[in-house]
Amino acid sequence: MISSCKFPHILSVTTLLILVAVHSDSSPAAAVPPSSEAYALLGWKSQLPNKSRALLSSWNESSTAGLCSWEGLTCDAWQSVTSLNISHVAINGTLQGLNFLSLPNLTTIVFINCSLSGGIPSTISNLSKLTTFDLGLNSFSGGFPAFLGYITSLQYLSLSDNYFTGTIPGSFTTLTNLTYLNLNANEFSGDLSSAIRLISSLPLQNLLLSSNNFTGSIPSSIGELTKLTLLYLGNNMLSGSIPSDIGNLNSLQQLYLQSNSITGFIPRTIGNLSSLGRLWLLDNHIHGPIPFEIGKLGSLWQLDLSQNSLNGSIPSTVSNLTGLSFLYLYGNQLSGLIPPDVGNMQSLYTFQLLSNELTGPIPPTIGNMTSLESIYLSTNRLSGSIPKEMGKLVKLRELVLADNQLDGSLPVEVNNLTSLTSLQLSNNSFSGNLPSDICKDGVFRN
Ligand SMILES: *[C@@H]1O[C@H](CO)[C@@H](O)[C@H](O)[C@H]1NC(C)=O
Ligand SMILES: *[C@@H]1O[C@H](CO)[C@@H](O)[C@H](O)[C@H]1NC(C)=O
Ligand SMILES: *[C@@H]1O[C@H](CO)[C@@H](O)[C@H](O)[C@H]1NC(C)=O
Ligand SMILES: *[C@@H]1O[C@H](CO)[C@@H](O)[C@H](O)[C@H]1NC(C)=O
Ligand SMILES: *[C@@H]1O[C@H](CO)[C@@H](O)[C@H](O)[C@H]1NC(C)=O
Ligand SMILES: *[C@@H]1O[C@H](CO)[C@@H](O)[C@H](O)[C@H]1NC(C)=O
Ligand SMILES: *[C@@H]1O[C@H](CO)[C@@H](O)[C@H](O)[C@H]1NC(C)=O
Ligand SMILES: *[C@@H]1O[C@H](CO)[C@@H](O)[C@H](O)[C@H]1NC(C)=O
Ligand SMILES: *[C@@H]1O[C@H](CO)[C@@H](O)[C@H](O)[C@H]1NC(C)=O
Ligand SMILES: *[C@@H]1O[C@H](CO)[C@@H](O)[C@H](O)[C@H]1NC(C)=O
Ligand SMILES: *[C@@H]1O[C@H](CO)[C@@H](O)[C@H](O)[C@H]1NC(C)=O
Ligand SMILES: *[C@@H]1O[C@H](CO)[C@@H](O)[C@H](O)[C@H]1NC(C)=O
Repeated sequence: MISSCKFPHILSVTTLLILVAVHSDSSPAAAVPPSSEAYALLGWKSQLPNKSRALLSSWNESSTAGLCSWEGLTCDAWQSVTSLNISHVAINGTLQGLNFLSLPNLTTIVFINCSLSGGIPSTISNLSKLTTFDLGLNSFSGGFPAFLGYITSLQYLSLSDNYFTGTIPGSFTTLTNLTYLNLNANEFSGDLSSAIRLISSLPLQNLLLSSNNFTGSIPSSIGELTKLTLLYLGNNMLSGSIPSDIGNLNSLQQLYLQSNSITGFIPRTIGNLSSLGRLWLLDNHIHGPIPFEIGKLGSLWQLDLSQNSLNGSIPSTVSNLTGLSFLYLYGNQLSGLIPPDVGNMQSLYTFQLLSNELTGPIPPTIGNMTSLESIYLSTNRLSGSIPKEMGKLVKLRELVLADNQLDGSLPVEVNNLTSLTSLQLSNNSFSGNLPSDICKDGVFRN
């Protein structure tokens, strides 16, 4: 194994630098010498700050096992580098000095959280075998690197958590094997419809565009991306309504549209998303009713529709969502009764309906939701008394019922709630004394 490895033991760093310099100045078509991969990597290392060079100490000429044993590298059977995969090492430099033309067999480049900055060298586009390219969580900047669209072998591309700007380039239509595209947390901008039009024929399974500056509305062509499992469009500047074509995405597991300026109704086709586990529509301007079709989302475990303008009553079909772990409907204009069958949601650990216009009683079945740790029903128009069944919620830590029209006395069963740290009952019409044992564990903060 040692003898088959091509590492150049005798060349000094100075020689290497000259070779690298000559190489990058000469015609790109020039034949690469056998040890060009090690030259390219050591040439790059030599340009990094001293501290970073120390972090890559295995990249050295005296490493007897050769470059295939260097940290972060993987080779093929012919000792040619196929993967450059380094994460959480503060390299603190740029990629400009790395001669990718000398590393033609790379299939994988991963630099996650490496304190890298600057732009992406365009010679990356000559890596015709590259399938995975991940520069997540660095400080790269500059316009959208359109040349990435020429790496037609790409399957996985992440530029997330950097400072890139610009719009998704037209060259992306040719990335016919791309299944994963993560551009989260940059400053990408432009009309979302134009962007989706460019990529709607790609076999994307994950499309992550959250926390950027995309504008315009979600186009109906989103429905062509039928392989999508994750669609993240949260924290942008999107407007318009959710197209009913979203219902075509029947593999979708996570739909994040939060913190935009989306208006209109929740389309009834949402009920077709039978694989959906997380639905986050919070912090938009969505109005109209919650469609009863929501009850068909049998895989749902996170439902957040809070801080919108939803009205009408909560459909009784939500009680079909027995796998829900949280239900956030707060900050809307929902009216009518809390569905009497809510108690079916026995996995729920937090139940937040505060700041709506709900009326009627707290349903006694609430006592069946034995996983509950917090209940926020404050600032509604709920009436009647606290059901004694609440005494079964032994995990309950927060019970917030303030600003309602509740009355009667607190049931003695409340003494059972030994995990309670916060009980907020102000602005109601309760009467009588607090049960004598209510503070017996002395854990209250409120
Ligand atoms: C790199 O790609 C560019 C653009 O496709 C091309 O013009 C150039 O000849 C390529 N260089 C090499 C060494 O293949
Ligand atoms: C970097 O290391 C070289 C010797 O390896 C030394 O001459 C130089 O002063 C160091 N630079 C800094 C900034 O420490
Ligand atoms: C070179 O790398 C080997 C491991 O691959 C390491 O044991 C050795 O200390 C390194 N030498 C220098 C000078 O950093
Ligand atoms: C890349 O792989 C091919 C095919 O295995 C091989 O012929 C070539 O020498 C490799 N390139 C380098 C720079 O090692
Ligand atoms: C990169 O390396 C890490 C840990 O060494 C590994 O978990 C990950 O799967 C690798 N990524 C790729 C794309 O090979
Ligand atoms: C990034 O890497 C540094 C080490 O360079 C580490 O301390 C930090 O926790 C990493 N950050 C993340 C989010 O992984
Ligand atoms: C990164 O480099 C910059 C300047 O090149 C320097 O100011 C900074 O302290 C370095 N950070 C680390 C973690 O080495
Ligand atoms: C796309 O993937 C298929 C199947 O893995 C492969 O045969 C084809 O060569 C790839 N296309 C490109 C442009 O790499
Ligand atoms: C993106 O939006 C933020 C917040 O509105 C703004 O500060 C920033 O300048 C915008 N960036 C671009 C590239 O449009
Ligand atoms: C309740 O859930 C089941 C299984 O997920 C589903 O078949 C049924 O259609 C749902 N009922 C309603 C009223 O949504
Ligand atoms: C739910 O609660 C109601 C009223 O407290 C009770 O009659 C019913 O048996 C409970 N159902 C389950 C499945 O625990
Ligand atoms: C009090 O809690 C226990 C479980 O710790 C439960 O068995 C009992 O039914 C509860 N009592 C009331 C009155 O809810």
